[in-house]
Amino acid sequence: MPTPAILITGVSSGIGLVTALDLIDRGYYVYGSLRGTEVPVELAEAPNFTPLNFDVRDREAISAGISRIGEEGRPLIGVVNNAGVAIPGPVETLAEEEYRRQFEVNVFGLIAVCQLALPLLHAAREEGHHPRIVNISSVSGSLTAPYMTFYSSSKFAVEALTDGLRRELLPFGIDVVSVAPGPTKTPIWRKGSQLTEAFEKDRYQHLVPQLEPYTQAAERGGVEPQLVADAIYAALTDARPDAYALIMNKRWLARVVSKMPKRWQDRFLTKRYR
Ligand SMILES: NC(=O)c1ccc[n+]([C@@H]2O[C@H](COP(=O)([O-])OP(=O)(O)OC[C@H]3O[C@@H](n4cnc5c(N)ncnc54)[C@H](OP(=O)(O)O)[C@@H]3O)[C@@H](O)[C@H]2O)c1
Repeated sequence: MPTPAILITGVSSGIGLVTALDLIDRGYYVYGSLRGTEVPVELAEAPNFTPLNFDVRDREAISAGISRIGEEGRPLIGVVNNAGVAIPGPVETLAEEEYRRQFEVNVFGLIAVCQLALPLLHAAREEGHHPRIVNISSVSGSLTAPYMTFYSSSKFAVEALTDGLRRELLPFGIDVVSVAPGPTKTPIWRKGSQLTEAFEKDRYQHLVPQLEPYTQAAERGGVEPQLVADAIYAALTDARPDAYALIMNKRWLARVVSKMPKRWQDRFLTKRYR
């Protein structure tokens, strides 16, 4: 029996890298996508790992990567849509190229990976497996902080895609769930914090000095990526996984705020910027 395989997008760093190592440790064969050809040293040395070279915005490259999985003959029992970017900026000033990139990667990339991987997931189901798609959403998929509006919109879209796709695929025995981390100790905030150009325009300039401490605090106060990897493992293997798993410190607070009337949420979510 060939080792069951899982595809994870975006394994160069952060949650994707930790999850790839974790799933290899637990006995799975992992196909991990990278945009460049440089494989992180931990993965280069790992057994049961094949890097796939694709940007999730490049449908042809994704298709080539997924064809390779099919050709190698291991049943594909899971897809973890992890690749993502977090692009901060005021709605009024963020460049069109940047807000389009936010959606191209987090939303359209995820759709392309699902569409192209589904034939292999159906095949795995026909062989008796219980295939899963795990979409990495965010607490920002249920609460929208100012200046993270495009990121948040992209994650709201991921939540809707997860629920809709799950309901479409239930009759075929393929489950689709989301894992929604809150702040997590990964480089994502540092990558996004370099994008201050949109804030430098007139009305928003005063926010620039507040951005760095905010992103640093988000990283410092975040959970370890291993906690998210554990939730992804549960989503892939539990007999009946939660359709939505929120993983963060003070999870109760996020739950309370998301139930508040919107005007109360305004007060809570803008206090950092007053
Ligand atoms: N960290 C948090 O606080 C947090 C909170 C909530 C949700 N999340 C979500 O968790 C997921 C993983 O993020 P992370 O925090 O682990 O950040 P990360 O370390 O920056 O990882 C993001 C991964 O996505 C890849 N990626 C970015 N653009 C891509 C593209 N166009 N095509 C293919 N891959 C691409 C990155 O590759 P490169 O190295 O090539 O850029 C990297 O491997 C994201 O979906 C993010 O939104 C993170």
